[in-house]
This record gives sequence, structure tokens and C-alpha cells, in this order.
Amino acid sequence: MPIHAKTIGILGGGQLARMLVLKARQMGLRVIILSEKRTDPAASVASKWLPGSIKSEQDIRALIRASDFITFESEFIPAELLKRSLKQIPGKKIYPSLKCLGHMQDRLRQKEWLHDFHLPTLDHIKINSKDDIDLAFKIYHSKIVFKRRMGGYDGNGTYVVKNKIELAAFKKEFKGEESQFMIEPFIEFQSEESLIFARNSKGQTIVLPMIKSVQKNNQCDYVFGPVTHHMQKKLTEKIIHFLKTVDYVGVIAFELFNLGSKLVINEVAPRVHNTGHFSQDALSIDQFELHLRCLLGMPLPAIELKQPAFVMVNLLGTSTRKPLIKKFPSGALHWYDKQENRPRRKMGHINYLGRNKKDLLQKALIERKGILI
Ligand SMILES: Nc1ncnc2c1ncn2[C@@H]1O[C@H](COP(=O)(O)OP(=O)(O)OP(=O)(O)O)[C@@H](O)[C@H]1O
Ligand SMILES: [Mg+2]
Repeated sequence: MPIHAKTIGILGGGQLARMLVLKARQMGLRVIILSEKRTDPAASVASKWLPGSIKSEQDIRALIRASDFITFESEFIPAELLKRSLKQIPGKKIYPSLKCLGHMQDRLRQKEWLHDFHLPTLDHIKINSKDDIDLAFKIYHSKIVFKRRMGGYDGNGTYVVKNKIELAAFKKEFKGEESQFMIEPFIEFQSEESLIFARNSKGQTIVLPMIKSVQKNNQCDYVFGPVTHHMQKKLTEKIIHFLKTVDYVGVIAFELFNLGSKLVINEVAPRVHNTGHFSQDALSIDQFELHLRCLLGMPLPAIELKQPAFVMVNLLGTSTRKPLIKKFPSGALHWYDKQENRPRRKMGHINYLGRNKKDLLQKALIERKGILI
């Protein structure tokens, strides 16, 4: 069947789904979105909007039936639910695979998988009982990070605890819920990097230029690049080997901590990723097209950087006022068209290209201040 007759079904209607839709339509593909509200960022731009819930087996089945290839914008849809929904519907594929999704959506299982493949990551402790918390606090020298195993994003679900008072407060707040978290040592990293890969269903794999990301309140604020690290090549090779072994299909993001002498993996997201948005304007092909090409088994072309430097700044909500653009930026604006604003909510982003990273970043950060109402 020709490519243009294909229909992509996406579970979820947020900004990642929206940017996948916009690219898919540019490529001539049809896209169906399963989401709850007509006003969801991806619903209004899709070829077809299927009202429903990504938590409902029945609604998911309807999406699967109507699509040739199915993908998701969030890794937190239980793999088991998708497995059940896929049953008895022949010939339909969900990418990335449900096996990969199942291993990655639980931060604890993800960590264990990384360890199994000898991929460098921070140490962690599983919480079986309350005593494990005290043990971890002691072993990790009273500086620990609690991470919610399922459903954490934008720093929601990440709790840094650096003394006994904070530990007591955490225990009080999450009494009875302890086993839903895992614990990592708190580390003083030099910076945070991100490596994004795309692997198609034929096994071809490519990697995007590495970026540095800067977080505010444990949430991505802006990224810039390209950057390099002496361990980058070795880590890239290991990750490519891992992706081949688990037969991963789609775009995947590896968030990294730069510890100076080495790069270690913080977390993995089996999807298109905020730190990859720069690719929309800085590269010859972006992460959204790459993801679609991966699903369809299309070749992945060599990536070219359009200019020596790039910056991506997130536009984060600061109030509950109606979202509006006060002043149009000189960089490329990507607006998510969300109807409601709230503090820290991702409302859009801007990509800048130039010759010098430092100058570009300065310009971007100044310009950003005047944009969002
Ligand atoms: N072990 C750690 N030591 C120090 N800082 C950490 C640690 N783990 C996480 N952080 C900080 O908190 C941020 C968010 O953590 P993490 O990426 O695990 O959560 P998240 O909710 O998935 O975030 P996002 O959706 O923004 O990627 C990290 O980018 C980093 O800045
Ligand atoms: Mg993260």
C-alpha cells in the first residue's frame, strides 16, 4: 500500500501529539487523535479526532481499528492495557513496542533494564519497607532523590531530600505510598545533556547532535547545542547496541548527567522529547518526521545542522490568565494552542539559530521575557 494511504493513530492529544500531527500532515499522512477534549492541542489539527480516554480499553480499540500504525505521546499508558486492547485485532502495530514500553514506563524497571545492559546510570534503591528509606538516606550520605515510579513528568514526582527535616516531611506527605517511589543518591552534576536516537522498523539507527539542557525547578527550561563530551562516542555506541538488542522502533531520548569524567543516564523517554524540539528548525530533519519514518519503515536520512549553534527556550506558564502572545519573537515560535494557562505549564517554545551559542542564548533569554502574557 502506498505510504500516503496510511493512517497513524496517536494516543493522547498534547503538544507532542500536535507536533507529530503537523509533521505527518505535511508528509501527506492521515492522523487520528484519541483524546478527551476537542480543544486539546492535537485534536484541532488532526485529520480526525476520536473523543475518548487513553485509559479506556474500548476507546483504545476504536483507535487501533481505525489506524494502520499506532503510537503514543506519553509513556504512562500501562503496557498491559495496550496489550489487552490490541488482542484479536490482526495486523496492527504499536510502536515503540509494548515490551519496550513496559520496561521503560516504570522508573524502577527502567533502571533495572539499564543495569542489565551495562548502560551507565546512577545507583538506586527499591523501597520495600519504610526501613529502606532510612537505609538509603544513610548510604547516600543524607542527600537523596525520591522518584515516583509511574507518571512523573516535568519534575512532578521528583523530590529532593537533603536533611532530616525534609525527610520527615516527605514521609509524612506520602505515608502509605512509599513503595510507589524509588530512591537515587542526589548528585552534583556539572550539567545535563541529552542524546536522542531514532531507529526504524528495518533496524537503521541515527543519533541527533547532543544538547545541553538547563532545568528550573526540576523542569526543562531551555536547551542549547551542539555540545560534545569525550565519553559521548562510547555511550552512543552502547545505546545503539541496546536499541538493536531490544529491537526498539521510534524516537527515544536519553537524559544524561555530565559528571565531568563520565556521562551517566538519568532517565529514558521512549518517545519524542522536549529536549529534541530544536531539531524542528536546527536540523535538516526533525524528531517528529524521524519518529514517523521509523514507524513506517522509511529510510532515515543523514542529519545536517543548518547553522553552527542553536537554542530552544520553553515558554512556561506563569499565571492562570488566558494564554496570549504579547510580542512575536525573532526566533521560530511553536505555539501549542492550549486554552488554559497555569504556572509551569508548557505553552510553547522558540527555536533560535546562529553562529555563536553564547550570544544566541543571551538573545533568546532576553526576548523570552516579553513574549507570554
Ligand atoms: N539524582 C539526582 N541528583 C540531582 N539532581 C537530580 C537527580 N535526579 C533528578 N534530578 C534533577 O531533577 C530533574 C528532573 O528529574 P527527572 O528527569 O528524573 O524527572 P522528570 O519528572 O521525568 O523530569 P522531566 O519530565 O522534566 O524530564 C533532572 O533533570 C535533574 O535536574
Ligand atoms: Mg527528566
